[in-house]
Amino acid sequence: MSAANLESLESLEQDALQRIQSAAALADLEAVRVELLGRKGKLAGLSKDMGQLTPEERASRGKLLNRAKQALEEALEQRKSAFEDTALHTRLQAEWVDLTVPAPGVRPGSLHPVTLVQREIEDLFVSMGFTVLSGPEVETEHHNFDALNIPGDHPARDMQDTFWLEGGYLLRTHTSPVQIRGMRKLGPPLRMIAPGRVFRNEELDASHEHTFYQIEGMMVDREISVSHLIYYMKTMLEGLFRREVTVRLRPGYFPFVEPGFELEIQCLLCGGKGCPVCKQSGWLEQLGCGLVHPNVLRMSGIDPEEWMGWAFGLGLTRLVMMRYGIDDIRHLQGGDLRFLRQF
Ligand code: DAH
Repeated sequence: MSAANLESLESLEQDALQRIQSAAALADLEAVRVELLGRKGKLAGLSKDMGQLTPEERASRGKLLNRAKQALEEALEQRKSAFEDTALHTRLQAEWVDLTVPAPGVRPGSLHPVTLVQREIEDLFVSMGFTVLSGPEVETEHHNFDALNIPGDHPARDMQDTFWLEGGYLLRTHTSPVQIRGMRKLGPPLRMIAPGRVFRNEELDASHEHTFYQIEGMMVDREISVSHLIYYMKTMLEGLFRREVTVRLRPGYFPFVEPGFELEIQCLLCGGKGCPVCKQSGWLEQLGCGLVHPNVLRMSGIDPEEWMGWAFGLGLTRLVMMRYGIDDIRHLQGGDLRFLRQF
């Protein structure tokens, strides 16, 4: 290789290395590559007259050219990967996601108000030694009526509008049939409650649904009196409303209890003075209750000479409405998330 050629190769290389180092973008590198290493590039130009050289000269020039080519390729490669690293780093910074942050628009669910109150009542009674039972929603006529001292010709059957099914089955109209199942399963003495869904063939309006919830309660033991009943009812209602309540019993007729009562509490809003919520009466009706009728005990194999009991049936849906100030029963089964999310 001539001295001139050698010199221009060296300055070419130095110049190119400098441009590679100071390249600002991938495009600059590509320009240098094409200019020097491309098929019509400067290095190719320098090897054009190789054919006229002696074999020794050719070998040494080839070596020099190859070394220069390698040096440039390496420098290009390094610079290129530095650009790529920076680009990747920038992208990772931009796309960084904190996986522990809750996704926007996804809310945790919440319990239905009926479930909330039901669980409170269950906890209360469980703490007093009661068992929580459940019974079927599709019941027999026997459990729903006959065994509760409501025979076929009894006018009390008309008190509840029943959804009849085929084969003597029905949708239970109250949770009272679970009393029967409880007595037969557990035997005396027993303490049980039974929350559940009940059905009545009613016209719908703001205070009537065909489907609603009740809680049944029953205690069978020796020497049961009305004062036991009052004690448990008061304890339950005070636990629920979280304040002292004044209760009173008025006679009420239910075929499965004798005596039977309607239990009322003094209006929590006006303290008994009279207001729109209690319809100026000062009292709010809460539940039906009484001492278990001897016939009911007997029909479930319990000797009424030896055992006695009290029972109650509470409109859970109504209680939930009172507790949360819900003015239309249809909200409860409506499935509207705007309503449900408030609990
Ligand atoms: N089962 C009655 C109803 O749905 C409520 C009831 C009243 C239940 C008195 C009882 C009771 O256990 O003793 O109207």
